[in-house]
Amino acid sequence: MKTTIFTFHDHSPKYKQIYERFKSFIEQGDILANEKLPSIRQLGDSLQVSRNTALMAYEQLVAEGYIRGEGRKGYFVNEVEPLLSQEAFLSPHNKQTESQKPPVVHFRADAVDQTHFPLKMWRRMANQVLTLPDSFRYGEPFGEACLREQISTYLFQSRGVKTDANAIIIGSSTQQMLVYLGHILKDEFQSMIVEDPGYNGAREAFQFHHFRFETLPVDETGVDLSQLEQMKSRLIYVTPSHQSPIGVSMSIQQRQMLIHWVNKMRGYIIEDDYDSEFRYTQKPFPALASIDSARVIYVGNFSKSFLPGIRLSYMVLPEAILHRYQTQFAHFESSTSLLSQLTMATFMESGEWNRHVKRMRLVYKRKMLHLVSECKKQFGHTISMIGEQSGLYLLIKVHLNHSEEWLIQRASSYGVKVYPTSPYFINNKTDTPIIKLGFSHLSCEEIELGVRLLKEAWL
Ligand SMILES: Cc1ncc(COP(=O)(O)O)c(C=O)c1O
Repeated sequence: MKTTIFTFHDHSPKYKQIYERFKSFIEQGDILANEKLPSIRQLGDSLQVSRNTALMAYEQLVAEGYIRGEGRKGYFVNEVEPLLSQEAFLSPHNKQTESQKPPVVHFRADAVDQTHFPLKMWRRMANQVLTLPDSFRYGEPFGEACLREQISTYLFQSRGVKTDANAIIIGSSTQQMLVYLGHILKDEFQSMIVEDPGYNGAREAFQFHHFRFETLPVDETGVDLSQLEQMKSRLIYVTPSHQSPIGVSMSIQQRQMLIHWVNKMRGYIIEDDYDSEFRYTQKPFPALASIDSARVIYVGNFSKSFLPGIRLSYMVLPEAILHRYQTQFAHFESSTSLLSQLTMATFMESGEWNRHVKRMRLVYKRKMLHLVSECKKQFGHTISMIGEQSGLYLLIKVHLNHSEEWLIQRASSYGVKVYPTSPYFINNKTDTPIIKLGFSHLSCEEIELGVRLLKEAWL
């Protein structure tokens, strides 16, 4: 086979489409075993793609055993097992899942550690809750009183936030609550300030109500609040304790400046305190809502500190907004599991919650230190690390003159799944790619293997 030509669609990277075409040619016998394939240059020229793209497609085929490279002679097709050929007869759905092998090491940030999860205790309490007559009904629209009481005590002790339990609204996720909140705020505020880069999940929730965005630049040195003065919006969404994704924390001076600004503007700060439990070098900083509860809407969740699948989050509303919220949603049923709320309230009341958070802080600190030391060992100065003081992921800025897409695809062909940070950026884009490595569910051995494979893939 000297060359080939076909058109590309926009739904997946070009290298993947080339890989899939060749794979299907081989499986269906259109190219036979030991046949020579077009060279990287020929393939690049005929398909009008870069040599890097052609090379990545071939490398994926080599990694999966479809073809082999024979040095300067080029690439040749391997014998394909009959079993593999049968894949061609599977339905398109099956075919896709068959070819998506799970990664060897998955640096995901949307999971938590399983080995230290208090399974027995939680099961016991959940079973006990199921014996209560109180469990056999719909829940309260704004959340169960017992859980709101527990959250109020916890917020005061750990975040310095003084709040009445009635000002707490329990929801099923941060985004769900931001959508509801956006509904309350959209008439008074048509635009809002968001961090750039910032949590895209929050932006999507606000976009639902067509808020316009003004952007506040953030980098490794922190958020640039000096630009606030030129902005028109009176509403701002921030992640002050652990900026998402950059990982910096606002200093006390910045917090005070922000509070001063919001009072002057008579606006509101939406403070997303999503993983403040996991700060490794110092004690967690007090929340903005502890400085001024009248102008700060505080948002928290149990996804990082306990279990993402529990779908339990909460917000603390200032009085003026609370009344509007309660009136607007008085006839909406709660979207959160009553059983999970009652079990969590029991768990918190028994003291198990505080023990769990303390234990997990140590577990994650150990993993973070291990990841940082492995990255230093394997990559030296070819990367710089961002956000190692807190949270459940590490960012690495990769100074190797490769694109984010290339780094991710290359890692994937070596069995490692890593994540981009480009979706978080709006205008403040960086030239050097920044890759996100979530580590919370990995063992130290898996972290070590993952970083070693990344080195093989990238260097
Ligand atoms: C900034 C930020 N806030 C909140 C969350 C949690 O969202 P949820 O409540 O849906 O688990 C995340 C999840 O990654 C996040 O990155």
